[in-house]
Amino acid sequence: MEVDNEALLEMTWRSPSNIALVKYWGKHGRQLPSNPSISFTLSRAFTETTVLFTPRRDSATPIVKSFLFEGKTNQAFARRIETFLQQITDKLPFLQQLQLDISSVNSFPHSAGIASSASAMSALALCLVEGRQRLKGDSFDLEDTINEVSEFARLGSGSASRSVVAPIGIWGAHPDIPGSSDRYAISFPFELHSSFDNWKDSILLVSDEVKAVSSSAGHQLMKNHPFARTRFKQARANIRRITVAMQQGDIGAFGTIVEEEALTLHGLMMNSRPSFMLLLPETVRIIQSLRRWRRQADVPVYFTLDAGPNVHLLYPSTHADRVLQWMEKELPEYLQSDKIVRDEVGMGPVKV
Ligand code: PMV
Repeated sequence: MEVDNEALLEMTWRSPSNIALVKYWGKHGRQLPSNPSISFTLSRAFTETTVLFTPRRDSATPIVKSFLFEGKTNQAFARRIETFLQQITDKLPFLQQLQLDISSVNSFPHSAGIASSASAMSALALCLVEGRQRLKGDSFDLEDTINEVSEFARLGSGSASRSVVAPIGIWGAHPDIPGSSDRYAISFPFELHSSFDNWKDSILLVSDEVKAVSSSAGHQLMKNHPFARTRFKQARANIRRITVAMQQGDIGAFGTIVEEEALTLHGLMMNSRPSFMLLLPETVRIIQSLRRWRRQADVPVYFTLDAGPNVHLLYPSTHADRVLQWMEKELPEYLQSDKIVRDEVGMGPVKV
């Protein structure tokens, strides 16, 4: 990044992606969720974002002065970030006086088909809130500002709200979850059973094609979805059930809910008006093979899916060797390093 003599401040945050266990699908108002969701915060799939703040002399010029993604100018990302920043100037008026040089890199391959908006928007939100504090001459403490950071991340991308809390994020108000809110995510407020310590997420990259239907379009289709009401009710019930399972150490119940949620998400897509499908034959092959093996081997490994064809395998790290052996036998192509992201549940963002 070119250093500007007038630069006021520069900072870098690394923020992870997350994988939803109970899915957010459908929104209203200003990026508010139609149902609560819960996720594992990841560790190795992250975005590292540097923001250089300089004064802006003319309010007609864009806030985003430059946007480099993986070292290259990216106009499409610059436009998306500009729209986002313009939308939040009512909440962050200091942006009206500034221009930003933003530079962002992902730890995972760019074309991997992993949703990067959660890590990217949360890393940016961290830079914005810390930037505001420090330009005011105030200190910055993530713990004190975590709700606000999560809220700005949410305004950029709903699921990003959960990436700033760890190891488990809950976003969306739920009567059984103290402190839960539609505006920001909180970390799991109960005692987590030790059987949920140290879980892995092996992300099997089935396709690197750009998705035919974006998440935003998918959320919109929930507005007149024939099953919307039932779905939102089911998600609330699943939040209740999964949080109980995670306190009691009921791994079987946890896995059943996680898989139901993944297939429901894709079922909703297939039943949207108009209908769309992001699953690929490869996705189904992996799921069938996993279920067959799990019945015989009795290993607690469960699949989940994002809004795309990639398969996330979730399992306790104590079972990592057996999962690897199964993959060697059944999915040898996934042992090539560029087709799998070996991730695990992590501890949230870090200042670089
Ligand atoms: O944050 P968005 O708008 O990209 O939506 C994400 C939706 C899912 O990834 C499918 C589910 C979730 O809760 O993360």
